[in-house]
Amino acid sequence: MKNFPLPRIDNDEKLRELLIPYCRFKRGDVWIDPLGRHKIGCLDAAEDNLSEKLTGGEKSSVAIQDPPYNFVAFEEKDPVNFINWCRRWVETTNICLAENSSFYIWLGADQNNHFQPLADFIIMMRDFGFDSRSFITMRNQRGYGTQKNWMSVRQELLYYTKGQPVFNIEAEYTDIPKILNGYYKTINGQKTKNFERSKSEFIRAGNVWVDIQQVFYRMEENVNGCYAQKPLKCIDRIILSGSNKDDIVLDSFAHSGATLLSAETLGRRCFTSDLDPVFCEITLRRLENYRATGKPGWQNSNPFEEEIIQDKKLKDYLSANYGIEVPVKEEPAVL
Ligand SMILES: C[S@@+](CC[C@H](N)C(=O)[O-])C[C@H]1O[C@@H](n2cnc3c(N)ncnc32)[C@H](O)[C@@H]1O
Repeated sequence: MKNFPLPRIDNDEKLRELLIPYCRFKRGDVWIDPLGRHKIGCLDAAEDNLSEKLTGGEKSSVAIQDPPYNFVAFEEKDPVNFINWCRRWVETTNICLAENSSFYIWLGADQNNHFQPLADFIIMMRDFGFDSRSFITMRNQRGYGTQKNWMSVRQELLYYTKGQPVFNIEAEYTDIPKILNGYYKTINGQKTKNFERSKSEFIRAGNVWVDIQQVFYRMEENVNGCYAQKPLKCIDRIILSGSNKDDIVLDSFAHSGATLLSAETLGRRCFTSDLDPVFCEITLRRLENYRATGKPGWQNSNPFEEEIIQDKKLKDYLSANYGIEVPVKEEPAVL
């Protein structure tokens, strides 16, 4: 169905209330995949014992955590409280990680407030036994527009490891063709060109990722109602580089279920959770929809489209508050 969006669910209490009856989760519930691959829990990443309630002691090869950043969305915590909260979910993540594993964390830096919480978070991480490996920047194709400052187009991704995890180098190559042909280096007295010394025709992502499009409504993977969806392409890169087939990937801030979907398509298992039953439901629906149709999202429709059509209260609410109308179904032409 086309042109059937859903507004941000997280900051509209009334809309959440209307959607809750359609959610199969309540706090503490864990969905177990009948195909034996994944699990989705409605759990608090900082308060619940994920190892007991979600993973059942099975260890993950890679964790990809994308918490609320303490600005933009969610209630803002005092930075000290935010870091104490982070410490709790990092501890839980650590317990779930295998001896040889990778740990990725997406985190922002508020440039109008001393770049918090990024710097504080990095310092807090010194207290754990992880090795720091890389500080990746992903370029957002669209930033928050500003006329008075450098436009903000970056997302920060911290990469830590434990032990000696796999790092599959193939995942580091982008689909950007290598166009530089310049003489770069002399080897055994011979000037060699860039492409002669390289393993691939494509450039490597390195730790600045410029080839990833931020999700927007025209993309098939778009999940309307979510406000912080990560593109599958960046999650694929992390999972491919840091795990092998059938390994477990952990994500305790599921939201749109991007990590789960990426794990499904790449033949990995995923244990994921979110505190909010609505985002747990969206995560599950995204997987079910993918398994049924092969589609990674709803493009410009939404995960609750069928219920909204049937539910007058929901329909009226969306129409009155957001001007969203149920699109008229196109009937096949009668010849
Ligand atoms: C930034 S979003 C994650 C986006 C996700 N990576 C994606 O691509 O869709 C953060 C999510 O964390 C969830 N959340 C917030 N506090 C939480 C907590 N204490 N435990 C678990 N989830 C929490 C929110 O409901 C939200 O869905």
